[in-house]
Amino acid sequence: MATATEKTFYLETFGCQMNAHDSEKVIGTLRQEGYRQVETEDEAGLILYNTCSIRDKAEQKVFHRLNDYKALHKAGKRFGVLGCVAQQEGEKIFERAPYVSLVSGSASYRKLPEMLSRLEAGETRITGLDDRQTDETFETEFTARQNPYRGYITIIEGCDKFCSYCVVPFTRGKERSRTSTSVLEEAKRIADLGYTEIQLLGQNVNSYRDPEGKCSFAELLVRVGQVPGIRRVRFTTSHPRDFTRDIVEAIDAHPTLCDHVHLPVQSGSARVLKAMAREYTPEWYLERIAWVKSAKRSISLSTDIIVGFPGETDDDFIQTMDLLAQVQYDCVFAFKYSARPNTPALVMIDSIPDVEKSKRLQALLDRQREIQRPNYSKHIGEVMEVMVEVQNPARGQISTRSSQNKTVNVTWAQPIAPAPGSYMRVRITASHPNSLIGEVV
Ligand code: 5AD
Ligand code: SF4
Repeated sequence: MATATEKTFYLETFGCQMNAHDSEKVIGTLRQEGYRQVETEDEAGLILYNTCSIRDKAEQKVFHRLNDYKALHKAGKRFGVLGCVAQQEGEKIFERAPYVSLVSGSASYRKLPEMLSRLEAGETRITGLDDRQTDETFETEFTARQNPYRGYITIIEGCDKFCSYCVVPFTRGKERSRTSTSVLEEAKRIADLGYTEIQLLGQNVNSYRDPEGKCSFAELLVRVGQVPGIRRVRFTTSHPRDFTRDIVEAIDAHPTLCDHVHLPVQSGSARVLKAMAREYTPEWYLERIAWVKSAKRSISLSTDIIVGFPGETDDDFIQTMDLLAQVQYDCVFAFKYSARPNTPALVMIDSIPDVEKSKRLQALLDRQREIQRPNYSKHIGEVMEVMVEVQNPARGQISTRSSQNKTVNVTWAQPIAPAPGSYMRVRITASHPNSLIGEVV
């Protein structure tokens, strides 16, 4: 139970891995400012939501959540909205939810200590809305790592690509990379904490440009993989425009770099890609895929797709389906187009009815399931190294991950399971379209 003078906070995170890691940094900052993290809203003096606005549904979830907890304001609690909805809606949040005292986008988190002091002094309309002006990155040595098996490092913040559907360039500010020196220092700190897996993060992680000019993105991958103690390096999300062949060569030459590339294509139609301002054609994209497929290692591929973009015809959609068959991804994240504030696509008529979007989404997911089925069953009989992520001995299984980023559920009969982050060798005994089943060898 919190005492009257104790500063406590509850933080809930919505959205992507960038947000999950931002929250780790925010938690570290709050602790440094003397706050203690608690598990429930009831126990907390300060309630924070780190929000996502990538699609309308994500944004609505935040406002519903704020509404649910309105009554807590009367109990003297303070509210803060962080992240993408905060940046997007700005001061309008104070009108919609007058009990909110703090609104801050991710580009302003470095000012959190100052904003917290103002909050403690009783101010009720505190904003950190840097928009696209700031060149600064948010780096802190106090990151409170919440993920027990994976250490995240943001290497590049913001986005300058302005794909016509995407809100990120408006919510996360302009593109800015950290120095490779500071990235490598953080990688060493992560290894010292006992982590063996690092995931490099950025909206367009491979657009990374070292401000010190010491290394390219591919070289940075290699150097992070050479940090003593590090056994697995992942990175997300890559943009096809900046995907270079040396990334594939680096993965081929360095087994610590995981054999998996997430390369969002969004659509298989040249016409739709043009309207999306993706600045590549399907052929150009498929050339990058051919590089990945020509590697000596078997590199797994995954992607993001948007269905029902304004003006997407049946024929455009069929081209996306054909691209799935051609590439043979191991995992696809597919979304119905959602019109977002400020984005260039907002002027295009969101012409596809929701039922049609749903129909296309379902058809795509069904097709992808059938593509994955034989590709997962190919692993049966194989012995591979996996890392434990979630222990669930009660269900007789533990959830692990392969270097290729495939989920491998390992049969486990003993009462005590190996800790998250430990490695084991397993033989694959069965497969599902989205996961593998294995037993310890
Ligand atoms: N509508 C639907 N999906 C979107 N994404 C980004 N913006 C939108 C939008 N307005 C998807 C893209 C991106 C992923 C993170 O979210 O596929 O790669
Ligand atoms: Fe959502 Fe994009 Fe913000 Fe991540 S960066 S939380 S995906 S809007």
